[in-house]
Amino acid sequence: MLKSCCIYATGLFSFLLLIVGIALALSNVFPKLVESLVEKEIVLKNGTDAFDAWEDPPAPIYMQFYFFNLTNPLEMLDGDRPAVLEIGPYTYREYRPMEEVSFQDNGTKVAAVNTKTYIFQRDMSRGPESDLIRTVNIPAMTVMEQFKNQPFFAKLISNYMTDKDEGLFTTRTVGELLWGYEDALLKVIHAFKHDVEPVFGLFYKSNATNDGQYVFFTGQQDYKDFARVDTWNNQSSLNWWTSDECNMINGTNGASFHSVLTKKEKLSMFSSDLCRSMYAVYEEDVTVKGIPGYRFAPPSQVFANASVNPSNAGFCVPSGNCLGSGVLNVKPCKQGAPIVMSSPHFYQGDEKFVRAVFGMRPRKEYHQTFIDLNPLTGIVLQAAKRLQVNVYVEKIDTFSQTGNVTTVIFPVVYLNESVIIDDSSVAKLNAVVVEQNVLINIPFMLIGIAILLGGVFMLLVCRHNMPESTAAEREPLLAS
Ligand SMILES: *[C@@H]1O[C@H](CO)[C@@H](O)[C@H](O)[C@H]1NC(C)=O
Ligand SMILES: *[C@@H]1O[C@H](CO)[C@@H](O)[C@H](O)[C@H]1NC(C)=O
Ligand SMILES: *[C@@H]1O[C@H](CO)[C@@H](O)[C@H](O)[C@H]1NC(C)=O
Ligand SMILES: *[C@@H]1O[C@H](CO)[C@@H](O)[C@H](O)[C@H]1NC(C)=O
Ligand SMILES: *[C@@H]1O[C@H](CO)[C@@H](O)[C@H](O)[C@H]1NC(C)=O
Ligand SMILES: *[C@@H]1O[C@H](CO)[C@@H](O)[C@H](O)[C@H]1NC(C)=O
Ligand SMILES: *[C@@H]1O[C@H](CO)[C@@H](O)[C@H](O)[C@H]1NC(C)=O
Repeated sequence: MLKSCCIYATGLFSFLLLIVGIALALSNVFPKLVESLVEKEIVLKNGTDAFDAWEDPPAPIYMQFYFFNLTNPLEMLDGDRPAVLEIGPYTYREYRPMEEVSFQDNGTKVAAVNTKTYIFQRDMSRGPESDLIRTVNIPAMTVMEQFKNQPFFAKLISNYMTDKDEGLFTTRTVGELLWGYEDALLKVIHAFKHDVEPVFGLFYKSNATNDGQYVFFTGQQDYKDFARVDTWNNQSSLNWWTSDECNMINGTNGASFHSVLTKKEKLSMFSSDLCRSMYAVYEEDVTVKGIPGYRFAPPSQVFANASVNPSNAGFCVPSGNCLGSGVLNVKPCKQGAPIVMSSPHFYQGDEKFVRAVFGMRPRKEYHQTFIDLNPLTGIVLQAAKRLQVNVYVEKIDTFSQTGNVTTVIFPVVYLNESVIIDDSSVAKLNAVVVEQNVLINIPFMLIGIAILLGGVFMLLVCRHNMPESTAAEREPLLAS
């Protein structure tokens, strides 16, 4: 009697457990609990881990440059296809702490400037910053483009260039090309037009400077707004035209922290190099230092030509003058220099650009921009921003310096700005991931236990209901 009571209690218990497990699984209580736990952590407040990581990113950020050394300048002047050799990396460690941090509006917003400093890493570089690179003379190309329709000035400038032995090409050190050098031609122009800088460098004035004040949401009101930019230099982030690169501006669509990130998410990022925001979509599952992540990458439409992606029409300058897929003309935001941005080696670009330069070999694994996020927490596991700076070169009749050159998008340098999560953050995140997995799986564990108990119950019932005779016949057998 007591025995059968126990058996049926087991049955009842397993049944109840099953109901509770299913109810919990369907009601989403645990995922919601996890989300609320994450929410509490994700706020920019003096003292939280999230604030410390935001104020001074713990993982080292590296900026690596790969230059293209021109090997056939004379042939190129005669109209041949340019041939280039990729030379790099030249690696800089990038420090980008938030400074002048001040909280506003009862802690719902925080203002700061983001000062970036680049320190050369000789041991991670191919050579010293004094390595020489032969490339297109960008200041000369800029000046020639600007005066090409003013024959009087064009003649004057062309003669000056001949005197000074300046031509379409120049050989400069890595340091000069990146951080700036005084250019003789620009200096002369500067004497007449003071707004023209006499110094040229691809990253001139970018070291140890900031690009103005940002106001971020702290996430106190809505954790999905965590670290989302509200304004930049008092402009609303909605109509930005230049600002911090790789900054995630669209909070609801993927701020850098985001609980329960789905594969359908469309991440917005902002890149000042491109003078625009772009977006990335889910590509694949990845594992970074043992932590699961989703990889997001910009689809090829981001760089598509205006007929495929009308939002790129703004890069057809002068209007209607589109270059084609895979390149963006950023002349309007680079002080009139004929600069064209693309992915390294024209990855995802039109074949015609790849074919026009000998030495281009686009490869996804090396040339793609991507960001890997942990879906549970939205924390950045790994990211690489890869961009190529090109210059638009064409024959200009008023300048003999351009010879018989064929119109080409000439690659100058590409950069890889990358970061990978540091080991102490991995340890912290691992603990969180395990904890969250345990919490989320509690209903399923209950269901599992219920099924197990159900099995035991069945077994007991069967044994209990076995005919007495069989049991009696067995007994002696077992005993003997
Ligand atoms: C955060 O707190 C520390 C110590 O209490 C203080 O020195 C620091 O100024 C605070 N930071 C901000 C941005 O309020
Ligand atoms: C800040 O909080 C105080 C008290 O709760 C309130 O009176 C005030 O209006 C709030 N200010 C802002 C800008 O929200
Ligand atoms: C950038 O500025 C820092 C500090 O002023 C300096 O130590 C560093 O050498 C500079 N880097 C470059 C590439 O000029
Ligand atoms: C680039 O090419 C120039 C001209 O041929 C050469 O002097 C220079 O050493 C090359 N640079 C490197 C880093 O090999
Ligand atoms: C965020 O992105 C969506 C879709 O890309 C867009 O509709 C929305 O206006 C954006 N919001 C902000 C604040 O930029
Ligand atoms: C734009 O790209 C599409 C697809 O690659 C191509 O068919 C079309 O000819 C291109 N248009 C222009 C103007 O380059
Ligand atoms: C950056 O990209 C280049 C080429 O795409 C690659 O060789 C290099 O290893 C990358 N650097 C890092 C730190 O991932």
